[in-house]
Amino acid sequence: MGNKKRYRFATEVIHAAQEPHKWNGATTTPVFQTASYVHETAENLSDTFSGKKADFIYSRLSNPTNTVLEKKLCMLEGGQGAVVMSSGMSAITNTCMALLRAGDEFVSGNSLFMSTYLLFTSVFKKYDINAKLVPTNDLDELEKNITAKTRFIYMETIGNPGMDIPDLKKISEIAHRYGLPLIVDNTIATPYLCKPIEIGADVVIHSTTKFLSGHGNAPGGVVIDSGSFDWNQERFPDFKPFIERKGDLALLDKIWREHHINFGTTQAPFHSYLTMTGLETFVLRMERQLENAMSVANYLKDRPEVEWVNYPGLSDHPSHESGKKQFSGKGFGAMLTFGLKDQKTCFDMINNLELIYHLANLGDCKTLIIHPWSSQYVSFTDEVKLQLGIKPGLIRLSVGIEHIKDITNDLGCAISKTD
Ligand SMILES: Cc1ncc(COP(=O)(O)O)c(C=O)c1O
Repeated sequence: MGNKKRYRFATEVIHAAQEPHKWNGATTTPVFQTASYVHETAENLSDTFSGKKADFIYSRLSNPTNTVLEKKLCMLEGGQGAVVMSSGMSAITNTCMALLRAGDEFVSGNSLFMSTYLLFTSVFKKYDINAKLVPTNDLDELEKNITAKTRFIYMETIGNPGMDIPDLKKISEIAHRYGLPLIVDNTIATPYLCKPIEIGADVVIHSTTKFLSGHGNAPGGVVIDSGSFDWNQERFPDFKPFIERKGDLALLDKIWREHHINFGTTQAPFHSYLTMTGLETFVLRMERQLENAMSVANYLKDRPEVEWVNYPGLSDHPSHESGKKQFSGKGFGAMLTFGLKDQKTCFDMINNLELIYHLANLGDCKTLIIHPWSSQYVSFTDEVKLQLGIKPGLIRLSVGIEHIKDITNDLGCAISKTD
């Protein structure tokens, strides 16, 4: 995207796609708070609708503030094109729907964010779509589940809240051997730690609500297309018109044209503005959050009341080597889970906290905590919860940028007061 000089990641995250000279010198991208765009001639609007000209028509379709964020995120992930959407779930739903037809199948790692899990196993069933969930790193099982009806492979770089890290290189090799794209949700690892496209993924998805915006104030999502997958295959006959229109970016065009603009999953330009403001401190936040997360994991590991800690930064974690091999060497994510005796102990501990926010979100610069068994997963049967590794004594923590001693003191005091 663009021929501008490329800088290091920490610089690009601030400057990529920014063009102050176009905006009367404004140093932040303006919020184009408009539903529609005037065209001076009938010919111009007609040419824009037909795709002969690139221009803005209506903000459900595209918006100049959103376009800047799209270019920026695309550069950060090393893609060729991107579309921002109203939430991470919009990005996941639109991408999957663009790829799937009734009767199709796909194979996914089973370590999934709760709504993604419900979308795959429940919502898609209504459309006769079969999501085959396999253990994230069981490559034999993954390969065995590929059939003529399979349309893609799906993984999370760090499972939420399973904390497992798939071997994306090996998985992409299997996917490509069968002519399938690999889609990766990179929300928890972020491009600061992992760039799935460089490893072999074809599409990257984010909930920008989390670490990328970083302040818990801007729901959003993005789909980034590597532009490197060949859609011109027998398995994808429905891609023909999109290949003719957009070539390598056929999938992104299909996602945008068939689903995003018709489902109306538009990103509010103000949310893009907030996300870009958040991105300016992304690298600094990540440095601190990764360091804090490692310290919190070590602190909790040594507390006698804590039965276990699930954090890939710990050297005995089953995904530690996978993270070391595929990540940038700067850490293992800022989210972890840990175990207390039972639900009552978890409730007591959460109710004793003074600093840490108790809420359903992650990736904020504040430390956040939740008891998934009784909240996000409350409508799931115990059997399914246990299959997904959600236990009554499990607590999920998203570690923020506060002073480490204040985080560990708050956790420590709250744990001490439980019986
Ligand atoms: C890994 C992952 N993917 C996707 C989502 C969905 O994002 P959003 O809440 O922005 O729709 C979440 C939300 O927590 C998530 O953790």
